[in-house]
Amino acid sequence: MSLAATTAGVDQTRALAGAVSGLVHAGDLVLLAGDLGTGKTAFAQGFAAGLGVDEAVTSPTFTLVRTYPGGRLAVNHVDVYRLERLQEAVDLGLAEMVDDDAVTLIEWGDVVVPALPADFLEIRLAYGEGAGDERRLTLRTVGRRWAARRRSLEAALAPWTVA
Ligand SMILES: Nc1ncnc2c1ncn2[C@@H]1O[C@H](COP(=O)(O)OP(=O)(O)OP(=O)(O)O)[C@@H](O)[C@H]1O
Ligand SMILES: [Mg+2]
Repeated sequence: MSLAATTAGVDQTRALAGAVSGLVHAGDLVLLAGDLGTGKTAFAQGFAAGLGVDEAVTSPTFTLVRTYPGGRLAVNHVDVYRLERLQEAVDLGLAEMVDDDAVTLIEWGDVVVPALPADFLEIRLAYGEGAGDERRLTLRTVGRRWAARRRSLEAALAPWTVA
């Protein structure tokens, strides 16, 4: 099952991410998918802020992994765009990073699914029609952890749900 939402600007994507962060449990994995500039990092920013992380979340492109402590849960923010082979994701220990101390968000995570636990929330972002600030978000749950929260997800997304 998947859920669709539309945001009209970056602030709305951050607010939506904040709403989703309210449902997150320790040990959760969230994959962020979508073309360059669709808002994966913006989502991570709103998500971390929603958990009470004070620090500004930046694009982890050059660092690959950054951990932000200080919120309700620690946030591991990962960007695997620069990985060239799946084996690099395995070597990086991505699967082991998903543990009970934190929530892990992976930009371009759909590309490394075989190296990850098969239990996650995938959020796919896409440009809306035209040159404006609209983005289409599609949320899909894989595995049992998130399946149990579908109703809550639906409620959290309601302000941005396409009628
Ligand atoms: N509705 C929207 N949601 C998110 N970002 C938006 C929206 N409208 C405009 N933007 C702009 O789009 C850009 C999204 O950048 P961001 O770095 O979050 O994308 P990204 O998917 O992480 O890119 P990359 O693939 O390079 O990591 C920002 O400049 C943001 O201000
Ligand atoms: Mg990014």
